Amino acid sequence: MKKVHGCGYGKTILFGEHFVVYGFPAIVNSLNCRTTARLEFLNNSKKQFEVIDNRPKVPSFKIKSTFAYQNMVKNILNFFKIKEKLKIVLNGNLIVCSGGMGASAAASVSICRAINNYFNFRLNKNDLNKIAFLGEQAVHKNPSGIDNTAAILGKNFMFKKESNIDYVELINLKKKIEIVLVDTGITTDTSEVVNFMQNFRNKNDQRFDEVCQKYLNIFNQAKKALIEFDLNQIGKLMLQNHELLCSLDLSCTKLNEIVNKSLKWGALGAKLTGTGKGGLVLVLTPGVDLQNKIAENFLNKNYFVIKTCLSK
Ligand code: MEV
Repeated sequence: MKKVHGCGYGKTILFGEHFVVYGFPAIVNSLNCRTTARLEFLNNSKKQFEVIDNRPKVPSFKIKSTFAYQNMVKNILNFFKIKEKLKIVLNGNLIVCSGGMGASAAASVSICRAINNYFNFRLNKNDLNKIAFLGEQAVHKNPSGIDNTAAILGKNFMFKKESNIDYVELINLKKKIEIVLVDTGITTDTSEVVNFMQNFRNKNDQRFDEVCQKYLNIFNQAKKALIEFDLNQIGKLMLQNHELLCSLDLSCTKLNEIVNKSLKWGALGAKLTGTGKGGLVLVLTPGVDLQNKIAENFLNKNYFVIKTCLSK
């Protein structure tokens, strides 16, 4: 029986989550871990498709709704005008955390790529990214497109949402940087938190604009610091970005606790990454020794951690 795979990378946002939804530039790194989708024809089934989700998940992960993923697949199959009945098996080494790794985007990209391979559509990355975005919309309603772009590219880049074609500029780091991702154990729903931000902005537009201008200043310095590979400066700016997100009420006690512990134990910087209000903290720990030390400290306090690297 014919079986075909496709894959999509996870990501961590270094600068600019939420601001990116409003057209501000952000910096994101695709992680070296991915979700894979395997397709098989489904014989003797009444359903048009079946999704088997075998992705590894953190113990605290709470499935809020499988319905959103069903809609993701429907959007993708409708776009491709697929009539055949399919079984889609999700797998891979991207651990589905409580939020922040771009897991839904990685799944959406992996399914699009698998369909592209299976039916030999020969679409390029840009076309596949547009279809994966339709899948993301089914889960996150108003996504910026940063997560699916990271899932398809597998690179470090600056992203800016545009009305027509999003702006993507690759940023090459001098070398990879060790990081630790620490899970709060609080599962967040991106569409709910993006909606929360939208309401906040509607009620406090002037304050929101002020915070956005502060963010733009951080972003400009961060881009320079990444190109110059100034790790201390990157760490300081990550912290400033975290503080701005706190001022927008996007953090929580657990996230702040993890950020403070990271700094106390010697990290160069730390910030919430992705959705916020829970999910993950990105901790900047250059060098394997620092990475191991901080990861072990969190493990000893029963946190779930992922040791990985910002790729070049
Ligand atoms: C989620 O990974 C990042 C957000 O900015 C939402 C988005 O950009 O779609 C919170």
